[in-house]
Amino acid sequence: MEDKKIVRIPSNKLLRAANISGKNILIRFDFNVPIEQGKIEDDNRIIASLETLNYVIKKNPKNIYLIAHLDRPGGRFVKSLAMLPIAKELKKLLRLRHNIDKVKLGENRVLKSVYKLSPNIFLLENLRFEPGEEKNDQGFAKEIADIANIYIIDAFATMHRAHASTVAIVELLPTYTGFLVEKEVNALLKIIHNPEHPYIFVIGGAKIEDKMPLIEAVRQKCDHVLVGGKVANEWIMRGHEQGEKVRLPVDGINKKGIIVPVNSATLKEGIFDIGPQTIMNYKKYISSSKTIVWNGSLGMAEEEKFAFATNEIARFIAKQHAEKVILGGDTAGVIDRLRLSKNFDFVSTGGSASTEFLAGKNLPGLEKLLK
Ligand code: 3PG
Repeated sequence: MEDKKIVRIPSNKLLRAANISGKNILIRFDFNVPIEQGKIEDDNRIIASLETLNYVIKKNPKNIYLIAHLDRPGGRFVKSLAMLPIAKELKKLLRLRHNIDKVKLGENRVLKSVYKLSPNIFLLENLRFEPGEEKNDQGFAKEIADIANIYIIDAFATMHRAHASTVAIVELLPTYTGFLVEKEVNALLKIIHNPEHPYIFVIGGAKIEDKMPLIEAVRQKCDHVLVGGKVANEWIMRGHEQGEKVRLPVDGINKKGIIVPVNSATLKEGIFDIGPQTIMNYKKYISSSKTIVWNGSLGMAEEEKFAFATNEIARFIAKQHAEKVILGGDTAGVIDRLRLSKNFDFVSTGGSASTEFLAGKNLPGLEKLLK
């Protein structure tokens, strides 16, 4: 893994350096939140955008245009992925009294049907309704850039995508980073460059293909990687053993809720949580650490009977005197549910962008911005 060259965002790229008063301001946020039948299930990412948004509002801009994507409509209009739920949530969080009207700012699907949240705050339609967004198309970027004088990127969770709103548009407008990007980058760079040792990385969850390279990358930097969840099962099934800093479960919970040793037979039948001996082993590593980063549940925590280890380890980490960082929406959800967020130094809203950054990959959006 190569060391990141970036050490900090230069002060002339920070939001505080932007001259906002009287200008048309375009802001890219990551409002990609879970929505079920029009109802937002977790608004943490929207709440995380408010610091930048409130700052910009107070600086008396002429107009504020918000852009974001929802899910992966693939360059087509998909009714269920329109931005209306986000518009309603923003109206509520910003305490706007204006009814949400629709206005037309241009011809493409993003500009044609824009949500007017107040006399000067507008939310554009889902960027990914236009194929140009994911193709990083200059023409599409220009159509959007033309409505503004200044661009602010605060969508850290999207910085790992080379899309029109993260890369192409940066060529077209003076661009600054929002407070969320600044916070995420600073918190993650601290761990990349100066983690206090012992440094423990706890990895769980089910997204095997994302987590395998993460284990490989972080084990070069940290003292122990504690693996749980589906990723542990898969890691063992692919022939990896304990050692080389990677610590694996020795026991687990099968589908009947019974404690079983971890071996090829029990793995084949299915293991849904880590067992009590493994919890004890992991606690020993955790209690002696100075930096703890956690990404992913240690069992199938969405089902209560398999959430025991995840909850137990969450409470245990929360009590430690160490730098404690949470990565990923699911893990942040666990911490939220257990009301432990205040016990952590940083809860990232960055999803895969954060884990890729920590794993040493370049984030095209950030690279472009800092060039
Ligand atoms: C996320 O939710 O992780 C970001 O919004 C990126 O979404 P994507 O994986 O669909 O590009």
